[in-house]
Amino acid sequence: MEKKEFSGEVYYASEKIVDNAHGKNWEEICKSAEDSLEGFWAKEAEELHWFKKWDKVLDDSNKPFYKWFTGGQTNIAYNCLDRHTETYRRNKLALIWEGENGDFRSFSYFALRRDTCRFANVLKSLGVKKGDRVTIYMGRIPELMIAMLACARIGAIHSVVYGGFSVEALHERLEDSQSKVLIVSDGSFQRGKTVYLKQIADEALQRAATVESVLVVKRTGEPVNMEAGRDMWYHELMKLPIANNNCNVEVMDAEDPLFLLYTSGTTGKPKAILHTHGGYMVGVHSTLKYVFDIHEDDRYWCAADPGWITGHSYIVYGPLLNGATSFMYEGAPTHPFPHRWWQMIEKYGINILYTAPTAIRGFMKYGDNWPNRSDLSSLRLLGSVGEPINPEAWRWYHKIIGKEKCPIMDTWWQTETGMFIIAPTPGVPLKPGSGTKPFAGIKMDIFNEDGKSVGPNEEGYLVITTPWPAMLRTIYNDPDRYVSQYWSRFPGVYMTGDSARRDEDGYFWIIGRVDDVIKVSGYRLGTAEIESALVSHPAVAEAAAIGLPHEVKGNAIYAYVTLKTGIEKSEKLIEELRQHVGHEVGPIAKPEHIEFTDLLPKTRSGKIMRRVLKAKALGQDPGNLSTLEE
Ligand code: WT7
Repeated sequence: MEKKEFSGEVYYASEKIVDNAHGKNWEEICKSAEDSLEGFWAKEAEELHWFKKWDKVLDDSNKPFYKWFTGGQTNIAYNCLDRHTETYRRNKLALIWEGENGDFRSFSYFALRRDTCRFANVLKSLGVKKGDRVTIYMGRIPELMIAMLACARIGAIHSVVYGGFSVEALHERLEDSQSKVLIVSDGSFQRGKTVYLKQIADEALQRAATVESVLVVKRTGEPVNMEAGRDMWYHELMKLPIANNNCNVEVMDAEDPLFLLYTSGTTGKPKAILHTHGGYMVGVHSTLKYVFDIHEDDRYWCAADPGWITGHSYIVYGPLLNGATSFMYEGAPTHPFPHRWWQMIEKYGINILYTAPTAIRGFMKYGDNWPNRSDLSSLRLLGSVGEPINPEAWRWYHKIIGKEKCPIMDTWWQTETGMFIIAPTPGVPLKPGSGTKPFAGIKMDIFNEDGKSVGPNEEGYLVITTPWPAMLRTIYNDPDRYVSQYWSRFPGVYMTGDSARRDEDGYFWIIGRVDDVIKVSGYRLGTAEIESALVSHPAVAEAAAIGLPHEVKGNAIYAYVTLKTGIEKSEKLIEELRQHVGHEVGPIAKPEHIEFTDLLPKTRSGKIMRRVLKAKALGQDPGNLSTLEE
């Protein structure tokens, strides 16, 4: 890439990295996508297998309900596995897995396909059909991947619930998706402790009525309650004759649903984001290929959790679509020592590492000696996702982990976008803290309150102005909310919920969320979920949650609680409330700090003014208080 003058701190990848990259001619590729959006995505789609080719790349006749590759027929699981097992990749490693306790497993493409087929046959024998919802609730183990792929193979819609969520979060998602089957592990290992997932599931199931079968994967081997007629062991089912090594793949229309993934929004309950077989597959395959520049001999590690979109797109589907060798690790980053990750990078020869700023800041705390003890020379590319990366963390990651030779791909995207939206490719000049520019074919803007584009370096609402293939299709069972949430603030334009600015070079800089979403350690939580968990405790009358800056987590949750009359304030009650939120939503949602207050600031219509609480906590001016009730 020609070295134009860029403002600020800029980093360039070595010529060797750029010359070998799939996106070597990135500017040309972007130009071609600008000339023909449909032409660009058609070309990308042609790299994958279609049982029947599409009639139309983009159907925008019913905006904002866009359709992609209409008339086309495919199956993402077929593209992830069979497409490779029919070639030399049959014996290539698809997945390398290490448990927190040191257990090791690996799967060739052949083996992963075989086990997926077997499990798909098990699901079929339990009556799971195309379009049925299946909830998956497990730790980071290979069976999670197998379960997702098995659902996709037979056309069932998976809904993965992050293993760090707890009773109410799981119950809500089971109920909303009307899942027939729950696939769960007995537990998982985290920081040397057992998380009793099956026990949590049992409690959630008491509140959920639709689940007919519960399939239990043995991971910890600790005793669990098995309810006769409902609960079955995965390993026993996989030994039955029905668990045949081959399972016909369901031919899916491009627009048929692939999965639901719940995410937090502005108000109320988490919403089920719906993604499809066709467009999602094309978008994820293409973005991972160009941005992380995966090559045949690479070993790629996305250290996220499969329970979040990052894991769906870039641990499970993206790497397999690209025929890559992917690494998955079950446990906590610093267990038993702070060099656990670095040891694994050396041990498995990882070339590409994709993680979150919060993890990097966590490692920085332990100093340079821990990573310096390992040989990290296999690394070629690094990635970041989930929240803005602060420049100090970027420089540390670049210098101490990447030894100043690995470009850092800062990828901005969302559960809703399905794929990277703002991201560089290896040849793009990098600025610490910016994801650079939108991916090929994507146009974005920054709007003021009136929907007008703002000037350079001015802050405003980040919006996407072109459709993209992996975009969410709707909110499951709530199309009106899909329209009102994303397409109504500025009609016809996708509202991301983030604020951002664009610098003089056209680089995007994310500032943060403009809604009631809090990013804690990169995890997306809604104030509403935390508040309703608090209010479900018998002592609590009202609650308000806000996010305040935190050195490692990015944001930490602070909660303000009004108690019911006659309830005594105490330290013990604070701890009890924290545990209660942990039990209902999950440990990640536990407030860092809870303060009792007799009155919450509200508007005259009764809405809690969180920004007033936030300003007060930060010692800032709360701004316009004209709508404050008292
Ligand atoms: C929100 C989406 C899909 C990635 C995982 C999170 C924030 C995400 C970045 C980044 C700055 C980022 C935004 C976005 N975010 N990546 N590289 N730089 N902010 O997906 O849970 O749906 O959260 O995460 O605020 O809106 P998610």
